[in-house]
Amino acid sequence: MAKDSLLISLLLLFSSFASQAAYLPSDSILLNCGFSSEATDADGRKWLADSTSKSSLTSKNSAPATALYQDPALPSTVPYMSARVFNSESTYKFAVNGSERHWVRLHFYPSAYNGLPPENSFFSVSTSDGITLLKNFSAYITAKALTQAYIVKEFSVLPTSAGSISLTFTPSADHNSSFAFVNGIEIVSMPDIYSEPAELVGFSDQAVEVGSSALLTMYRLNVGGQYLPASNDSGLSRTWYDDSPYIYGAGFGITTSASNKLKISYPEEGTAESAAPTDVYRTARSMGPDPKVNMNYNLTWIFQVDANFTYVVRLHFCELQMTKVNQRVFDIFVNNQTAQAQADVIAWASSKAVPVYKDYAVYVADGPGDEQLWVALHPSAAAKPEYYDSVLNGLEIFKLNDSAGNLAGPNPEPSSMLAEAESEEAQRSFSSESSSNVHIIGSAAGGVAAASVFFAICVVVYQRKKRVGGNDSSGGSGWLPLYGGTSTSSSTISGKSSGSSHLSNLAAMCRHFSFAEIKKATKNFDESLVIGVGGFGKVYKGVVDEGTKVAIKRSNPSSEQGVNEFQTEIEMLSKLRHKHLVSLIGCCEENGEMILVYDYMAHGTLREHLYKSGKPPLSWKQRLEISIGAARGLHYLHTGAKYTIIHRDVKTTNILVDENWVAKVSDFGLSKTGPMVNQTHVSTMVKGSFGYLDPEYFRRQQLTEKSDVYSFGVVLFEVLCARPALNPNLPREQVSLADWALHCQKKAVLADIVDPLLEGKIGPECLKKFAETAEKCLLDHGVDRPSMGDVLWNLEFALQLQESFESGKPVTEETTERPVAVGNGSVGGGSEVSEESDNSAVFSQLINPVGR
Ligand SMILES: *[C@@H]1O[C@H](CO)[C@@H](O)[C@H](O)[C@H]1NC(C)=O
Ligand SMILES: *[C@@H]1O[C@H](CO)[C@@H](O)[C@H](O)[C@H]1NC(C)=O
Ligand SMILES: *[C@@H]1O[C@H](CO)[C@@H](O)[C@H](O)[C@H]1NC(C)=O
Ligand SMILES: *[C@@H]1O[C@H](CO)[C@@H](O)[C@H](O)[C@H]1NC(C)=O
Ligand SMILES: *[C@@H]1O[C@H](CO)[C@@H](O)[C@H](O)[C@H]1NC(C)=O
Ligand SMILES: *[C@@H]1O[C@H](CO)[C@@H](O)[C@H](O)[C@H]1NC(C)=O
Ligand SMILES: *[C@@H]1O[C@H](CO)[C@@H](O)[C@H](O)[C@H]1NC(C)=O
Ligand SMILES: *[C@@H]1O[C@H](CO)[C@@H](O)[C@H](O)[C@H]1NC(C)=O
Ligand SMILES: *[C@@H]1O[C@H](CO)[C@@H](O)[C@H](O)[C@H]1NC(C)=O
Ligand SMILES: *[C@@H]1O[C@H](CO)[C@@H](O)[C@H](O)[C@H]1NC(C)=O
Ligand SMILES: *[C@@H]1O[C@H](CO)[C@@H](O)[C@H](O)[C@H]1NC(C)=O
Repeated sequence: MAKDSLLISLLLLFSSFASQAAYLPSDSILLNCGFSSEATDADGRKWLADSTSKSSLTSKNSAPATALYQDPALPSTVPYMSARVFNSESTYKFAVNGSERHWVRLHFYPSAYNGLPPENSFFSVSTSDGITLLKNFSAYITAKALTQAYIVKEFSVLPTSAGSISLTFTPSADHNSSFAFVNGIEIVSMPDIYSEPAELVGFSDQAVEVGSSALLTMYRLNVGGQYLPASNDSGLSRTWYDDSPYIYGAGFGITTSASNKLKISYPEEGTAESAAPTDVYRTARSMGPDPKVNMNYNLTWIFQVDANFTYVVRLHFCELQMTKVNQRVFDIFVNNQTAQAQADVIAWASSKAVPVYKDYAVYVADGPGDEQLWVALHPSAAAKPEYYDSVLNGLEIFKLNDSAGNLAGPNPEPSSMLAEAESEEAQRSFSSESSSNVHIIGSAAGGVAAASVFFAICVVVYQRKKRVGGNDSSGGSGWLPLYGGTSTSSSTISGKSSGSSHLSNLAAMCRHFSFAEIKKATKNFDESLVIGVGGFGKVYKGVVDEGTKVAIKRSNPSSEQGVNEFQTEIEMLSKLRHKHLVSLIGCCEENGEMILVYDYMAHGTLREHLYKSGKPPLSWKQRLEISIGAARGLHYLHTGAKYTIIHRDVKTTNILVDENWVAKVSDFGLSKTGPMVNQTHVSTMVKGSFGYLDPEYFRRQQLTEKSDVYSFGVVLFEVLCARPALNPNLPREQVSLADWALHCQKKAVLADIVDPLLEGKIGPECLKKFAETAEKCLLDHGVDRPSMGDVLWNLEFALQLQESFESGKPVTEETTERPVAVGNGSVGGGSEVSEESDNSAVFSQLINPVGR
């Protein structure tokens, strides 16, 4: 037995050495539509001019066009910057080998062409074989909803006896002055990788003949691995994406990759070699080392799909660790039904390092809660394997044409929240006067007031609409990275702080004011004393104890979310005393009122000293000092207390400045205590302010202190550039400050977007250090971002560089001593944590972490 399998694997090893040549397509036509000569894209692929010997265009009314504007998110100017625009039905015809399947890839970059607005374009695309590829398709809406600059649709069409493939573009008749366009067309022959029937999940003996249908690629993921460009595919020019955005909840498992010595050996027969490149098989995601943990969760991916279609889920496996049968055995679920019981990769492939793939078909009906496709893996207890674990290397999802030959789904719906936020922001910029003197903005609603173009919002809104309406009709029909895998997230902001503390207990934690005292302090809530308005309610300036100036935050009694945030804020602030945190003086909760009394911050928010307020601008040194103060406050939150506290809503309106220009972090309504022992993150519903929100947090709903670091990075750029984190009035690529600043930093033109008032006033070394620090804060992965302590140190160094620039004396990094930055609050100065009180549910869990 053992001998046999050794022999087999040796044989496989040799045979695979013999057959490592990548697939070479017999047809490969890449058409750069609307362009008159040949051109090469960023990947080095050659695109032909619009009219060639291999293609012909039949059209009464079409014209070449050039995009007016080049979005920085485009991977290459070829084929996106040129297009062909059709004002009436038009057909491209390609001469191909009629006995093969072909990829048809359509590239769309919605932009103004020949003066036609992109939002007017609705059209359908069909083949001469009667397959509808797209119907009532709007590249503009699709790109907007997915917040992508361009769209690529990949289809696989059946062999045609005609020896040619025709694509007919028809502008939609339902829309006035509609037109069709396309930027690039790829027609590439492919090996028959769909010849095997796929078992229909939930029906024990039914199979779907994949080979007789046209397909649309919905998702293609290199599980546990990285993005692979078309040029790194095994000759089929497919693009593979990272799978982590689609993972459900916090169950990420662990990723493994093969050592360089391990050779991936394709089985000789079949199309395994074309199924996926070895790079896909060299990485995998499994559940983790702890069998008990593994038995308690499912490794799950979630995808948005269109209803009323059959999908084929193709799972790619290649065992990189196990060598024997029954070592790692698991069950595979598709849409909560068992697709495969007791999957054993070694049993299928017969050896380690041999790839194998399995297809499962599932029909997605149009019921409530549908339009989602779940793929889940769970160790198979019934098989009693050696290891309770499961593993996956690659995943593809294809949509099959329906019985009418249709592959098209509806356009995804751009979020209503995005629209709302846009109009709200527009109003704001009209009434900048009133918003300019907001001192403490309620954190409720997470500052939703900002618009955003990043993909994350779609997720939230998509989910929210689902919850509220239940009959949402948006569908994901793109196949580039689509909606993040955050399906359980909810955009409701009314999350409860953990535990269930009661208001009556809170009074014990801070000085109690009577309602009469508060009324007196605010002259009976005189409107002229209002210094800020937020979702929580109004903030008044007041005087207590014969002359102590205070800020008084009065909750709006109708705001339900206020109660929880009120509690959280008292719980947090009554424990924390730090020079760079706003101090809570007391509270009042008579007459159903919830009122908080803080130190008064004479200079208001940091934001109002940066832009749109008409106040005298801050010098660069002042800005650095304020940034350093805020960084100290956050560093203290993260490490100075006995446990990590994550602020979750770091932004320039939550950084206040007192009469001596000392920065203080405020607004702890959304704060969370950080990861507990043995945990590296907190799983939580996504909250915070758009524009500042850590994209990783959004994708994974795992909160770490690095989410605050991300937001602080945005603050740093805001300080440098004196513009809002989100400004929807700017051209699209500039709307998000984080994206735009990173773009400029990469192109080494950051100086162009620095606040003009600072021109010539920032030392070049200082600017470099500052920008590098901010850039690192915005790194995609939290683990790569610096800690707040590192940020602080770098900012202090930047300040020294600035001082030496201003005084003309040089500084070197060696001469500066790095301050101690761990665990002690020593960096912050003057910090101490008061005794915990058992009244606080948030903290009591930490004192006594039982049952976790
Ligand atoms: C057409 O495709 C078939 C099947 O792949 C192949 O055998 C044949 O050689 C191809 N013909 C040409 C002219 O390339
Ligand atoms: C098209 O435009 C005409 C006149 O501008 C208008 O009467 C008609 O309702 C429009 N049709 C559609 C479908 O919008
Ligand atoms: C793609 O292939 C090139 C050349 O083989 C290699 O240098 C590069 O690292 C690969 N890229 C990825 C993402 O694997
Ligand atoms: C799915 O099919 C049903 C029945 O034909 C139809 O009522 C429904 O509108 C379809 N749903 C979508 C999203 O097309
Ligand atoms: C699968 O089960 C989960 C949890 O029970 C549920 O939330 C989800 O909607 C189900 N998915 C489908 C596609 O039925
Ligand atoms: C895993 O998913 C299956 C199918 O949805 C479900 O029956 C099972 O309860 C899940 N197991 C866990 C531990 O979530
Ligand atoms: C797709 O269309 C073809 C005919 O063009 C048809 O034979 C096939 O059954 C369709 N597929 C499905 C899943 O209905
Ligand atoms: C075409 O798409 C638009 C935008 O998604 C939608 O409003 C319209 O109803 C669709 N028209 C048809 C005929 O499906
Ligand atoms: C969604 O459901 C609500 C009521 O639940 C209904 O008023 C509305 O018309 C529905 N919308 C669609 C698009 O079906
Ligand atoms: C943390 O992990 C250690 C070892 O992994 C274990 O002994 C300890 O009980 C765990 N503590 C908690 C609170 O789970
Ligand atoms: C905190 O600081 C004190 C003295 O300032 C020192 O003795 C102690 O070791 C420090 N603790 C940590 C965790 O750094």
